[in-house]
Amino acid sequence: MTNVKCRMVTVPDLSKEHTIPGQPATERFDVEKLPHHLAIIMDGNGRWAQERKLSRIEGHRAGAESVRIIVRACRRIGIPILTLYAFSKENWQRPGREVQALWRLLSRYLKSELDEMVEHSIRLNAIGDIQELPKSVNRLLVDTMNKTSANREMLLNLALSYSGRTEIVRTAQKLAAACVSNQMEPAEIDEVMFSQNLDTADMPDPDLLIRTSGEQRISNFLLWQMAYTELYVSPIYWPDFREAQLMEALADFQRRERRFGKTGEQQATEV
Ligand code: FPP
Repeated sequence: MTNVKCRMVTVPDLSKEHTIPGQPATERFDVEKLPHHLAIIMDGNGRWAQERKLSRIEGHRAGAESVRIIVRACRRIGIPILTLYAFSKENWQRPGREVQALWRLLSRYLKSELDEMVEHSIRLNAIGDIQELPKSVNRLLVDTMNKTSANREMLLNLALSYSGRTEIVRTAQKLAAACVSNQMEPAEIDEVMFSQNLDTADMPDPDLLIRTSGEQRISNFLLWQMAYTELYVSPIYWPDFREAQLMEALADFQRRERRFGKTGEQQATEV
């Protein structure tokens, strides 16, 4: 991201029904300082439901609605890449009923949002071990990726059966195999090559990670890619995280000084 002269825009119409009383429905942004890649750990669906005496599945259903709203908002604001942690490898340990409900919600989401993705030029991609998903879900996912593959305005990246450590190990094995078969030398492996062999090849690292529900953990998400990512923890449970909360997170991000290990003065003179 460059720090060129500010071009301020007002992002209008943040669906008033979802804004929180007392918070502004519009926010002024410097479009040059929006994250190119926003990653979100969507946490708190279960607690949201518990507080309302609802089932955890109801919480995930409300969470899926937040996904719809946040994807639309990111597209409208102009965030080029959004990566959502939708299902971790560790989530397989949850009760079977809950896991099945999550796949049902994902399938419903993919079916209901396809037209909108096509209309608004959103490309769907998945990272993680998606061959582990139920066959029908995997098929629908691949089909949706194919149908949206030409879209260029925004990339919606879903992390599914994803583990940052597994991704790193898989990449190391792939590069080691290439060395063993004499396609390259171990000394040729550098950070760029490693990055290019991760699931996120060709994507810039996330500029901002939002985690909802107040938990201050990375939880095995994009471990390699988050070396210099700004972290933002929202106390709000994911089902209540809507445009107003997104705007607040983006406004906070815009106030940060990203130094990438340099001094503030060095960083300022480079732009
Ligand atoms: C974490 O909340 C959330 C998940 C493990 C699943 C996220 C899934 C969705 C938001 C819905 C479906 C997704 C898509 C892409 C349509 P939690 O259950 O761990 O909450 P808790 O910590 O309060 O128990």
